Amino acid sequence: MPKHFAVIGNPIEQSRSPELHHAFAKDQGIELQYDKRLAALDGFQQSVEDFFAEGGLGLNVTVPFKEQAFALCTQLSQRATIAKAVNTLWIQDGILHGDNTDGQGLVNAITALGWPLKNSRILILGAGGATRGVIYPLAQAGAQSIQIANRTVARAQQLVEDLQTSVGTAQLRASALDQLHGEFDLIINATSASLTGDALHLPDDLQFQYAYEMAYGKASSFLDQAAQRGVEYSDGYGMLVGQAIEAFDIWHAVRPELKKFL
Ligand code: ATR
Repeated sequence: MPKHFAVIGNPIEQSRSPELHHAFAKDQGIELQYDKRLAALDGFQQSVEDFFAEGGLGLNVTVPFKEQAFALCTQLSQRATIAKAVNTLWIQDGILHGDNTDGQGLVNAITALGWPLKNSRILILGAGGATRGVIYPLAQAGAQSIQIANRTVARAQQLVEDLQTSVGTAQLRASALDQLHGEFDLIINATSASLTGDALHLPDDLQFQYAYEMAYGKASSFLDQAAQRGVEYSDGYGMLVGQAIEAFDIWHAVRPELKKFL
């Protein structure tokens, strides 16, 4: 029986993780089985325990269980501790380990696009879990400043307060989404607006060179506006591939090349 992995979530049908992990495995000459696993909304812990009890080796965790996965782990990476969310689980020495590869996946995707992060001025739209997961890796990649703009400004302020001590010399700021202005190198849309089909309006006097949308496979008013301005832009497929490569590296100690799978 090949080594067994899975992605767990609810819903799970839409997940592209199995095809990515099977493609990486083929590329690296590794034999494995990677399934989708639907957990009941109140049955996440049981499903995780069953998977590992059946001999499963690693789990990716997706919506809405990343915070629950964080709470289950005995051993956490630094970036998962800061993100307060886990997307990669495995057992080592009989203990449940958790990591969060989303932020590094984003950094790797942006780097593969050739967009500079070192000394960059970054604006992130949204202050939910998606934003929390990427601040520390962006700061580690050398961002000079990171402004978090949110519809509910208090949430952005809370995030800045929580993460201030984790970002080294990077400057963290909070602002309201409807009062955006100034000049940035990169804007990242980490709101769930594209997932729900809501429009986001970027003011005319907001200046930026690069626009990254974390969602993929959806219409995005954010990317439409970036395209109209003639700046470079990308949807979030590269981030998905990037986080999957990081998880693959944790489990198999090899790194498939991101550009091969875009
Ligand atoms: P996730 O974990 O994916 O980040 P979340 O915690 O529900 O999801 O956060 C969603 C983010 O998208 C929030 O920052 C939310 O803003 P609020 O905190 O004000 O709710 C933002 N968001 C969702 N729909 C939006 C919209 N139509 N316009 C602007 N921001 C939106």
